[in-house]
Amino acid sequence: MIGSGYVGTVVAACLAHIGHKVVGVESDSAKLASLARGKAPFFEQGLDELLRAGTEAGRLSFTSDLGRAVEESELTFICVGTPARPDGKPDMSAMEAVAAAVAPHLKRPHIFVNKSTVPVGAGRWLSSAVAEAAGNHRVAQLVRVVSNPEFLREGTAVSDFLHPDRVVLGADDAAALDEVVELYQPVLQQSFPGSDGRAQVPLVRADLMTAEMIKYAANVFLATKISFANEIARFCELVGADVQTVAAGVGLDQRIGPRFLGAGLGWGGSCFTKDLSAMIALAGEYGYQARLLEAAMGINADQRQLAVEKLLRRLKNLRGARVALLGLSYKPGTDDLRDSPGVDIAGRLIERGAFVTAYDPVVREVPGEERIRVMADAYSAAAGADAVVVATEWPQFLDLDWRRLRAVTAGDLLFDGRNCLDPAVVQEAGFVYEGVGRRAPLRLARDRAA
Ligand code: UGA
Repeated sequence: MIGSGYVGTVVAACLAHIGHKVVGVESDSAKLASLARGKAPFFEQGLDELLRAGTEAGRLSFTSDLGRAVEESELTFICVGTPARPDGKPDMSAMEAVAAAVAPHLKRPHIFVNKSTVPVGAGRWLSSAVAEAAGNHRVAQLVRVVSNPEFLREGTAVSDFLHPDRVVLGADDAAALDEVVELYQPVLQQSFPGSDGRAQVPLVRADLMTAEMIKYAANVFLATKISFANEIARFCELVGADVQTVAAGVGLDQRIGPRFLGAGLGWGGSCFTKDLSAMIALAGEYGYQARLLEAAMGINADQRQLAVEKLLRRLKNLRGARVALLGLSYKPGTDDLRDSPGVDIAGRLIERGAFVTAYDPVVREVPGEERIRVMADAYSAAAGADAVVVATEWPQFLDLDWRRLRAVTAGDLLFDGRNCLDPAVVQEAGFVYEGVGRRAPLRLARDRAA
């Protein structure tokens, strides 16, 4: 397993859990030591337990010796990062480094299972890149590439791997593809120890490029669905409808489905923006303009500005205002701050002269953004605040004592950027509730009469 980021570590631990022998390659010595102790270098539910169990069972180990790991393995998974470059295209330097590092160790045919999200066509590119690095074009014949896009979500990655909606495998070499199908049998059959007897998992077999396209198409669809919900939320605000109920009513249509229709601050994280940018850049290479995807990106960016505008509308001036931010990670269940809407909004508020204090159940600091003061709990973050912004829908926030919170704030505005709170509860506590596309709760004549 080359790469011990989110994907590589989860896949290594899960493959060991379903019975395979896995060696993870990591060059960073601190990370290596942590992994060897059964501790992931990031927070992911259920992962440390699997790491420890795999290590204790002798099925999982970590090394910095890439050459030996590849030589002693039947298959090599590539799980390295492909972050977006300034032009939107994925940065392939980590993939190039892998090609150069494995080249001297290929003595016989070897299967490379690529889980990194790479531009369509990069699977084919890998064979040539390895041969190029080996200085021998015949080495390309030894490289069998299988694309195995990952659909793991941070926070539920272990369960997403073990109980996926589908497994997608793509190759131009049927024998290599069959070998990876074998590797996945315990997941496909849901027959690994501890599996709870779920139905078999569908397998999608494809050619290399089609599998690579499936990954992008899935992510850009989900992102577009979120932007669609956010656009409907704008309509709801204009006409006075409630987006939560609209989403529920629309999502019950089985052709649409209820998930990823959550309006709010939009998506963050390391994947959606990167993959949309890559698709838009790819379209540009062919002279095609991906207008739907461009619109989805634009709407997502606007949702962050919407938060600032909502605060401005009520506070009139942000200079010197105190804002308490609840939630820093880009979504619940993770400590990942990459492209976090909450951190972005905090930056915009600070630029306008506001002071931002924050609380997050797992994030203790925001590296590179010392202006956000991270407090030990929600009540200390809210002390003296003119407005409270909920930026991440951590379940813990639902149980906050809103009266206690209101007692410590200076102002009464509560902006629920994730539409996750019950407006009636926070209004009862004395806050003025503001959501995204939500209709003010109907505490009108009927309730007052009661
Ligand atoms: C996403 C995909 O869901 C995974 O299938 C994929 O494997 C992964 O990207 C990847 O390519 O690596 P992830 O970024 O971990 O996974 O998180 P999601 O649960 O998809 O959430 C992404 C963002 O969308 C979060 O900021 C979340 O708050 C936001 N979101 C999600 C909404 O704003 N509304 C929704 O209804 C759902």
